[in-house]
Amino acid sequence: MDNQVASVPILDIADLIVRYGTRTAVDKVSLQIRRGEIFGLLGPNGAGKTSTLSAIEGLVKPSGGTVLVDGIDIQRDPLAAKARLGVQLQSSSFQSELTIEQIVRLYSGLYGMSVTRQGIADRIRGIGLDAELGKRFKSLSGGQQQRLSLLIAVIHEPVLLLLDEPTSGLDPQSRRQLWDRIENLRTGGGSILLTTHSMEEAQAVCDRVAIIDRGKVLTVDSPSELVAKHRDDPRVVRVARGEVTLEDVFIGLTGSEIRG
Ligand SMILES: Nc1ncnc2c1ncn2[C@@H]1O[C@H](COP(=O)(O)OP(=O)(O)OP(=O)(O)O)[C@@H](O)[C@H]1O
Ligand SMILES: [Mg+2]
Repeated sequence: MDNQVASVPILDIADLIVRYGTRTAVDKVSLQIRRGEIFGLLGPNGAGKTSTLSAIEGLVKPSGGTVLVDGIDIQRDPLAAKARLGVQLQSSSFQSELTIEQIVRLYSGLYGMSVTRQGIADRIRGIGLDAELGKRFKSLSGGQQQRLSLLIAVIHEPVLLLLDEPTSGLDPQSRRQLWDRIENLRTGGGSILLTTHSMEEAQAVCDRVAIIDRGKVLTVDSPSELVAKHRDDPRVVRVARGEVTLEDVFIGLTGSEIRG
């Protein structure tokens, strides 16, 4: 029985379609994320990464397909599915006039967590913002805001964390710290789906990545397997500047032109 539970993917997306009017942003995407896995979605601007996450989060209604979070269908039982999710949006903003302490207290309360004043202070110290405790959200730097939004995303200890470009705009120190935090979350039993434009990040933290483009999954595997699998593809060979890298595979498969 335990084996059976463990074998249910933490996220099971099948033939997901997201449309905005006549534009198809996600075109029959199927992906499975294993328990305890850190999974990366890579793709050029407009590939459909945020739209895929939005459908999982229930922010957009899929035009087709199914999404199971921990075996729960998000359309049939959205509340139970959402309770298992932690979400950090591509650009998070909180009530700008509230202080950090008030924001952490507010969200702990919304999730029904009972956290003491000391508990709140400890969590804020954990993200290095103890000196900023009484500052309003709007007066934090971009990186500080991002650290706070990650803290809020995991405050209810979700089993699956969705992070949309979590390290864009962070300095190298904060980026490394965030990678450590992501790995700690996994050690604590969580699974993570993140999007990134950084090949370095994909290689540093992701067990597997999917390269998506124009709403379709082009390939899925571990970063090193992706390189091994596609290194002889003529499109990849053409763009490589030496030893084939993950970025060469990415550009080879998705093309060199800039997306609108
Ligand atoms: N709310 C919306 N209304 C209409 N079209 C949208 C909307 N959101 C996204 N799109 C379109 O859907 C497609 C996929 O966008 P999406 O935001 O999912 O891409 P992305 O992979 O997250 O890109 P980026 O790397 O730039 O964040 C794009 O063509 C985009 O213009
Ligand atoms: Mg996006």
